[in-house]
Amino acid sequence: MIDFKDQFLLDPKITFLNFGSFGACPKPVFEKYQQLQLQLEREPVRFIVKDGMELLANSRKQLASFVGCHSDNIVYVTNPSYAINTIAKSFPFKPGDEILSTNLEYGALDRTWNYYAKKAGAEYVQQALSLPISSKEQVLADFWKGYSKNTKAIFISQITSATGLILPVKEIVDEAKKRGLITIVDGAHVPGHIDLNIEELGADIYTGACHKWMMAPKGASFLYVNKENQSWVDPAIISWGYESDNPSHSQFLDYHQTNGTRDFSAFLTIPACIDFMEENNWKEVAKDCRKMVIDNAQRFCDLMDAEALSPINEEFLGQLFSIPVSTADPMGLHDLLFEKYKIEIPVPKENDRCYVRYSIQGFNDQKDLDRLAEALVDIRKTSNLLA
Ligand SMILES: Cc1ncc(COP(=O)(O)O)c(C=O)c1O
Repeated sequence: MIDFKDQFLLDPKITFLNFGSFGACPKPVFEKYQQLQLQLEREPVRFIVKDGMELLANSRKQLASFVGCHSDNIVYVTNPSYAINTIAKSFPFKPGDEILSTNLEYGALDRTWNYYAKKAGAEYVQQALSLPISSKEQVLADFWKGYSKNTKAIFISQITSATGLILPVKEIVDEAKKRGLITIVDGAHVPGHIDLNIEELGADIYTGACHKWMMAPKGASFLYVNKENQSWVDPAIISWGYESDNPSHSQFLDYHQTNGTRDFSAFLTIPACIDFMEENNWKEVAKDCRKMVIDNAQRFCDLMDAEALSPINEEFLGQLFSIPVSTADPMGLHDLLFEKYKIEIPVPKENDRCYVRYSIQGFNDQKDLDRLAEALVDIRKTSNLLA
C-alpha cells in the first residue's frame, strides 16, 4: 500500500485512527480551499454574487455526477444535521403518524426526529436491530417488525455511526416503496467510502457528508430530494431565494441554496476532492483499506474477548470497524488512548454497549493497528478502564 501520510496535514506524532468522525483534508484540497477563501476576501462582492456562484454551480454538477443524481435535485449544506433538520422540520406529519427508524442511528439525528415528531403528535420509532447481525435477511426481518399502519416514512443510515456497519438500505428502500412510504437515507459516511448512485438506490431523500470520506474541508455536505418530494420541503432559512424576484429554473435550488451571507468555499472544493481521488487511484486505495479493516477485525475481537457485530466481510464492513469493548468509562478510555498512547480513536457508547471504532484511510498502515493492539493489551493489564 502506498503511504499517503505526507499528503495530509495530520500531526505525525498521533496515530490517527479516527478518520470517520470529521475526515481529514489532503494538502492539495486544503490549498485549493485557502486559495478560494483568499479570492473571496480580495473581492467579496464579486465573489459572493457572481464568480463564487458560477463555481458553486459547477461544483454542484460535479458532486451530482459523483453521487449519481440530477444536479437540480441536490444542494450543498454544511452537515447532515442541517439536511435532516430541514426535512424533519417540514415533514407533513399528522398526529399518530410514525417514522420508522432503527436503534443504530446517529444520536444527534434521533434528537432531531424526536423533537419534530413529538411537536406534531407523531412518533419516531427506533426499531431494534439485533446484534450481532447474522445476515441481511435478519436485518430486514428485524427492521420491518417496527412497521405499522401508521408508518409514513423510513429513516435509516446506510453506514451506521457507532457500530460502523453497512446496512442493506437498497432492499429496505425497495420494500418501503412497495408500502408507499417516503424514504429518507442518512448517508453521512457513504460518499467516497462505498459506491453510491442515489438514483439507482431510489431513496426519496438522501444526505451525505463530503468532509468525511470525500476529504473536503469541514462544513461540506449535501441534501438530495427527488422531484416528487420537493414541494413539501421548506427552506431551513427563509431568504432571498424564497418568493425570489429572479427565480431560476429550479425552485428547489432557489429555496435551499440561498442562505444569507456565509463562507461557502468548502462547497467549492469538491472538484478538487474528486481530482485528488482520481489522480491517486482512490478506488484502489479504498480497496486496500477495506482489506486491512477485514484482515484485522477478528484479531481485535479475540483480543477483547468479543464477538464481531456482523459477519466480517465487505457486505457489512467498509473502512470502519467497531470492536465491542467492556468499559465503564468510554470517555476515560478515549482520553487515555490519546494522552498516553497518542492514538486518536473514538470510543462510542450506544444502547449500553461500548466500542473502540477504528477507521482506515490511505495514510494508515498496519503499524497503526499494531500500536492500537499493544495499547489495548497494556490498558487491560495496567488499568481498570477495560475489563
Ligand atoms: C450516521 C451519521 N449521520 C450523521 C452524521 C453527521 O453529523 P453532523 O451533522 O453532526 O456532522 C454522522 C457523523 O459522524 C454520522 O455518523
